[in-house]
Amino acid sequence: MENFEPEIVAFCCHYCAYTAADMAGSKRISYPSNVKIIRVPCTGKVDAIHIMKALEKGADGVYVAGCLEGDCHFKTGNTRAAHRVVQVQKILEDLGWEKERVAMITMSAGMGERFAETALEFTEKIRNLGPSPVKQNKTITQAVS
Ligand code: FES
Repeated sequence: MENFEPEIVAFCCHYCAYTAADMAGSKRISYPSNVKIIRVPCTGKVDAIHIMKALEKGADGVYVAGCLEGDCHFKTGNTRAAHRVVQVQKILEDLGWEKERVAMITMSAGMGERFAETALEFTEKIRNLGPSPVKQNKTITQAVS
């Protein structure tokens, strides 16, 4: 689709990805404005329903950005989030959607460049996939048929 600008929701852990986004900003490293950040205290607080709701509301892609393995301030929040992302990917596959519309990413607070690169790469990936089936006038349930 020409001129398609994907809407991306990024659930970002306060301790890492959100701080990395801040660092990218302070270093004047730009990233696509397509990415709308939702700060969470830990990615362990992001449930599958939050990801599904974002997709239902029209996000073309959603990613969860948490602390590096072993660095979660709540011990296992990031591994639980990664597990939920896999669960949502399976649901999307069952619905006939591309599972790549959802991803789990990890980084440290100091990785401003990685935050920007990730935002750019994910935006391009979703741009190539095209608009979400919801935007093609299909609800999540209609997308099943
Ligand atoms: Fe960052 Fe748990 S505190 S993912």
